[in-house]
Amino acid sequence: MTQLPAAPEQPEQPAQGALKPSDSSRALYGGKSTRRITVRDIAAAKERGEKWPMLTAYDALTASVFDEAGIPVMLVGDSAGNCHLGYETTVPVTLDEMTMLSAAVVRGTSRALIVGDLPFGSYQEGPVQALRSATRLIKEAGVGAVKLEGGERSHRQIELLVESGIPVMAHIGLTPQSVNAMGYRVQGRGDEAAAQLLRDAKAVQDAGAFAVVLELVPAELAAEVTRVLHIPTVGIGAGPETDAQVLVWTDMLGLTAGRVPKFVKQYVNLREVMAGAARSFAEDVIGGTFPQEEHSVH
Ligand code: KIV
Repeated sequence: MTQLPAAPEQPEQPAQGALKPSDSSRALYGGKSTRRITVRDIAAAKERGEKWPMLTAYDALTASVFDEAGIPVMLVGDSAGNCHLGYETTVPVTLDEMTMLSAAVVRGTSRALIVGDLPFGSYQEGPVQALRSATRLIKEAGVGAVKLEGGERSHRQIELLVESGIPVMAHIGLTPQSVNAMGYRVQGRGDEAAAQLLRDAKAVQDAGAFAVVLELVPAELAAEVTRVLHIPTVGIGAGPETDAQVLVWTDMLGLTAGRVPKFVKQYVNLREVMAGAARSFAEDVIGGTFPQEEHSVH
């Protein structure tokens, strides 16, 4: 489905009397409106002190399930590289791949704000390359915003995209596209690293980002960044105090093979469920108990 132009933007209002102060986080999640959520709704949520959930999605079918479940923001993350496309890291993911996956997620949803990730190599050369790449995700895939990694080092890219009318979600802390340089380690530990993370957070806010992902940073530091910024923070492995939380859907639903990071909460073991169903199907076929009369035509 094509992204609607940002028309009459009213922050979604909770049903009258439906919300007690303690569950005011329901305005984005579970709101009544069926129109697309926009970055202005996200800004309003921060003002109202609401928390919100974000999940990754890489295909139309899964995205439609999350959309029906009321997930207000979906990230077509370049984690598609390791979670969907079979690469070892996010580094090999291409802009063509991200455009194709993002378009599928947009088609599968009607309400969520869809954020498309700019893959490694599609914005590091500078603002003009970033604009060219982001324009593809906006025009060809129909996403409502893009995400890119980096704090101070990416502020010029963010500035040009925002000036050009493209909402940007920034991503600091652990930035997986830099795995070859930084590995997968907690970021922002120690005074100097914490001060750098704060500078990065302020730099992306000043450049015009509408939200910032904080990945794998100490909970206390993430809480401080969340207090200091007026844009929402989206935590992953960043403790409970961020404005929003994001998880990679294949981790959260137990489809990922092997170990998942400590910060993941696994809500179901889909890998076991799917493998069990596949084995049952195979046994039925081999034993001649499928198909039966009700599955046959005459
Ligand atoms: O690519 C991705 O899924 C991400 C999230 C982990 C934030 O960047």
